[in-house]
Amino acid sequence: MSWQQRIDQTLQQRLQQGLLRRRHPVRLSSAASLQSGDKCYTHFSSNDYLGLSQHPAVIEAWCRGAQRWGTGAGASGHVTGYSPSHHQLEQTLAEWLGFPRAILFNSGFAANQALIFALAERDDTLIADKLMHASLQEAAALSPARYRRFPHNSLEGLVRQLDATDSANRLVITEGVFSMDGDQAPLATIQEQCRRHQAWLMVDDAHGIGVMGEAGQGSCGQQGVKPDLLVVTFGKALGVSGAAVLCSAAVADYLEQQARHLIYSTAFPAAQAEAVLASIHLVRHHPEYQQTLAVNILHFRQQCQHYGIELTDSQTAIQPVIIGDNHRALAVAEKLKMTQHWVQAIRPPTVPAGSARLRITLSAAHSAQQIEQLVEALYHAL
Ligand SMILES: Cc1ncc(COP(=O)(O)O)c(C=O)c1O
Repeated sequence: MSWQQRIDQTLQQRLQQGLLRRRHPVRLSSAASLQSGDKCYTHFSSNDYLGLSQHPAVIEAWCRGAQRWGTGAGASGHVTGYSPSHHQLEQTLAEWLGFPRAILFNSGFAANQALIFALAERDDTLIADKLMHASLQEAAALSPARYRRFPHNSLEGLVRQLDATDSANRLVITEGVFSMDGDQAPLATIQEQCRRHQAWLMVDDAHGIGVMGEAGQGSCGQQGVKPDLLVVTFGKALGVSGAAVLCSAAVADYLEQQARHLIYSTAFPAAQAEAVLASIHLVRHHPEYQQTLAVNILHFRQQCQHYGIELTDSQTAIQPVIIGDNHRALAVAEKLKMTQHWVQAIRPPTVPAGSARLRITLSAAHSAQQIEQLVEALYHAL
């Protein structure tokens, strides 16, 4: 089959199965509202859980940084792209999260892939939760290491995999808060099993950092866990972009030698590092953002209960409404759009087949009234 035929056929199949993905240009006017075309919507699909992407202090830090350092880093951090702001951000992250070192990456996707590709060699074994993020799944599958998966959040499944392999190097990989389900991994018991089996633990806390635990230290801080490798991202609750790996001094030195996403990619702008620093300052010193988010999550769940809308057990900002059928999920999202609510329908392969869903995300920026209006619209749309 020629490339052209393959492309045409794939697009046609995706359309027929309700799986075609489209991007829409939107103008975010606040952390809770957006404009698309000439219509305004309240949005419940962003990962800006604390509304910090629109915070004046974060915006000002970015502008100040750009005036001071220019707009681009100009090169990889190994050349001239590593500024005092990047250095300060790494030190702040290490101190805030209690690790010897932090290494910055352009995105969580890059950090996850860089880590796996840098560490995993032929006789190593990677043992991962089945629902872990695409960036990790892909890197694990492409790496030369053995790749085993355990059923989502199943401790029994994890132990079975740990018992079944005798590789000298075993890395258990999970997420703090699962991106499409909003549930949390039992990190303390997972860590215990890792220690018993002398395996390393890696936690991707993209959706936990800033929103879970004291001073927003994330899922690991909340559960009193110190993984060997922690990935945090800045594009979600911190409202900016980029990511970091928290690790030992030796692993950080090793990543500086081996992580191709770090070595062969232009560093993110110094101004961005300044914005992330401002955002971290807000998270650490203003617990009211986390508290408002918690109130909003509770309010949403109580409203859904009132209307008899079935939810999962998720207690986090990610509140999926499982629909099942792809076309129906799209139709419900369209109906919500007609009431000026922007909620994304998430379909396979992002989620398992037959579990298409509305991924509703709450933010500290939502008002009680906006949440009530969404739930009422949802009741009529379902
Ligand atoms: C669990 C998880 N890890 C990593 C990423 C990637 O992070 P980033 O958006 O910074 O590339 C995402 C987000 O898409 C995610 O949900």
